[in-house]
Amino acid sequence: MTAQPVLSARNIAKAYGNIHALKGVNFDIHPGQVTTLFGENGAGKSTLMKILSGVVKPTSGEIVLDGAAVTFANSTDARNRGISIIHQELSLARNMNVRDNIFMGREIIGRSGVDFAEEERQTRLLMAELEEDIDPLTPVEELRLGQQQIVEIARALSVNSRILIMDEPTSALSATEVEVLFKVIRDLTARGVSIVYISHHLEEALQITHHAVVLRDGAMTAYAKRSEIDLEWIVRNMVGENFDLGSPPEGYAMGETALSIENLSVPDAAGVGFSVVDRLSLSVKAGEIICIYGLMGAGRTELLECVAGRLAPSGGRVMLQGRDVAGLTIAQRIARGLVLVPEDRQRDGLVQTMSVGQNLSLASIGAFTKGLFTSRKAETAVVAEAIRKVTVKTDASGAAPIGSLSGGNQQKVVIGKMLATNPKVIVLDEPSRGIDIGAKAEVFRLLAEGAKQGLAVIYSTSEVGECLSIAHRIIVMHRGRISAEFDHTVAKEKIMAASGEAVAH
Ligand SMILES: Nc1ncnc2c1ncn2[C@@H]1O[C@H](COP(=O)(O)OP(=O)(O)OP(=O)(O)O)[C@@H](O)[C@H]1O
Ligand SMILES: [Mg+2]
Repeated sequence: MTAQPVLSARNIAKAYGNIHALKGVNFDIHPGQVTTLFGENGAGKSTLMKILSGVVKPTSGEIVLDGAAVTFANSTDARNRGISIIHQELSLARNMNVRDNIFMGREIIGRSGVDFAEEERQTRLLMAELEEDIDPLTPVEELRLGQQQIVEIARALSVNSRILIMDEPTSALSATEVEVLFKVIRDLTARGVSIVYISHHLEEALQITHHAVVLRDGAMTAYAKRSEIDLEWIVRNMVGENFDLGSPPEGYAMGETALSIENLSVPDAAGVGFSVVDRLSLSVKAGEIICIYGLMGAGRTELLECVAGRLAPSGGRVMLQGRDVAGLTIAQRIARGLVLVPEDRQRDGLVQTMSVGQNLSLASIGAFTKGLFTSRKAETAVVAEAIRKVTVKTDASGAAPIGSLSGGNQQKVVIGKMLATNPKVIVLDEPSRGIDIGAKAEVFRLLAEGAKQGLAVIYSTSEVGECLSIAHRIIVMHRGRISAEFDHTVAKEKIMAASGEAVAH
């Protein structure tokens, strides 16, 4: 084994009421190495990392830093000792600009108060290091999700920590952005910084891993060096069995066109220099699953949001079962069977102050309302069914606050909530963000089942493997237009090439 660990967690346990999130975990962080933590949704990864970074206090156990036991009063205390964390759920102040988010709570003080110019200069340097063209004075709410994630990363980098914890840092990043981040990680480890990395993109994570650790139900179940493991080892240890994601559902007849998008355009609000969606036409039949593949910025989110009624088109129309949906609100579209699982669950998918059950039944509330009253019984039944269907790890009543669920389980609630409305067309924007491989298989199964009963599915993804496992048809988007169309027997490289992505050989 390598030199003495920088940090060791000894017998760390954490209970939330009667939920035992961690059950006596022992975990070492080595200098200059990347330790990757794998595990299903709710396995305890984020909880362990929050404990190591002072955000959460353990119920029992000890943290040893440089050979001596320590307790962290809070995250600032841990940060002062060289440990910082990039959280899975973004923690930025949306209405503040990039610079102020990066230096919030650690302002650079000059002779006459906060030295904004210096903060801005350092922010520019960080953005240059991350090869991201973001002006320090841009309000965070104007950035797309991936850029917000970059700001979160920049903030952690600005601290110059010895231990940098990254909890799902790449879930909203483009392939190029991930490459840049990995370059930064390699530079950091070369300088002796330790990285703890968490990701459900297993293949991606393997590229930078030195040590792999698997957590299962709050306990550490496997530990190995990179040279001893492969993808199959991870999946087997995570889930207890091996499986692949299968292939698109077949053996039934598709129905009529459920949704058709005709010459749709969305203007260039973000100033990218071209229409984000440019006279795009596409239709999907009842029972058909199509994947829209593309890089970040290809216009996928804008297309889907326009279909769902969140963005106004500048031209063209969207027909749902032959009827133009122009002028219908989001709620009216949901009532007619057109629903969206949005990209950003924190902003759009969930109401953070409500319980799991309330979130699940929110979108289908109309179905439970009889006259003035909501039918409690019907609602309870739907909630229990949805929790079972999407295998959300929570109690069946759904009474727990949504914020107490693990990241992946929150994402499953968003999907369950939309499926509970019994839609005719479901549009999903990168729905596998943050969900484990078992849950992904579960979502695929639900969508396939829906399709066999006539549900039309539009599924947006930046993972080629997902397209091949679920889609009858794969549509590639590039700069607001369709650049290619394939069936699921196509080679991965062809899909990637059509998206404008550099294909490694
Ligand atoms: N504040 C809290 N209150 C109650 N339970 C919690 C709280 N935070 C976490 N838990 C529970 O602890 C368990 C572990 O959650 P954790 O977030 O660590 O999982 P994870 O491995 O990070 O999962 P994911 O891959 O989905 O992010 C889950 O059952 C979760 O519901
Ligand atoms: Mg987590």
